[in-house]
Amino acid sequence: MIDISKLTCIKNNTTILKDIHFSVHSKERIAIIGPSGAGKTTLMTILSKQEEDYTGSILVNNKDIKTYDHRELSHLVGSISQEMNLIDNLKVIHNVLAGKLKDWSFIKSVYSLFIPQEKQAALQALSSVHLEGHYDKKTSDLSGGEKQRVAIARLLMQNPLIVLADEPIASLDPSLARNSIELLLSTTQDKTLIMVLHHVDYALEYFDRIIAIKNGEVYFDKKAIQVSQEDLGALYEL
Ligand SMILES: Nc1ncnc2c1ncn2[C@@H]1O[C@H](COP(=O)(O)OP(=O)(O)OP(=O)(O)O)[C@@H](O)[C@H]1O
Ligand SMILES: [Mg+2]
Repeated sequence: MIDISKLTCIKNNTTILKDIHFSVHSKERIAIIGPSGAGKTTLMTILSKQEEDYTGSILVNNKDIKTYDHRELSHLVGSISQEMNLIDNLKVIHNVLAGKLKDWSFIKSVYSLFIPQEKQAALQALSSVHLEGHYDKKTSDLSGGEKQRVAIARLLMQNPLIVLADEPIASLDPSLARNSIELLLSTTQDKTLIMVLHHVDYALEYFDRIIAIKNGEVYFDKKAIQVSQEDLGALYEL
């Protein structure tokens, strides 16, 4: 489904990613780990086409991602990150509906601010993250964990085939972090999931395959059960 080859990204004369190769099958669940500054976020921004300054090729369903326009890409790839990018002043339901914006005409988008379009689908997305009662609340009135779930509902509304999650749990306390990871895994069961995680324990517990990035290169790419303490010690230079 995704084939990355010879991916190199150089910025301001600094090599951030170097000769990255890997392939991802449909519905695979992959955790990306590695030290701070290794290039994980850069890799995710390239995969979501927010960054196009690189060499090498990235094929999604055998087509170069550079050839997809943003609307086509929004059916294929959705992102969720620590910042969540919710609009605090809007009601929860409007933030969920924002998952559809790339699909909608400008008129429909503006109209939806007054009378939510596809409200049933949005309510269903909110119900899968256990927030059905909160749809009419102002987003700024929600807790951090609830906002995280609104961001997941927005992603479900967008319904992409591939979900890229960059440290989605970094701002949550440990019990919320675990809930949030489990919710993301269960709500994206029919999707391909690539998640950057600082919590190596969670990566090993919840994911089948671990790709470690160090100094902009793939340091190892293994099944989670094959990752040893020595691998992790060398990766993080413990
Ligand atoms: N525009 C830029 N110009 C120069 N260097 C950059 C630029 N953007 C990122 N970098 C550098 O690239 C490296 C990789 O950054 P990136 O954000 O991808 O790391 P990361 O693995 O996500 O780290 P973290 O775990 O801390 O989030 C860092 O050293 C960063 O300073
Ligand atoms: Mg990062």
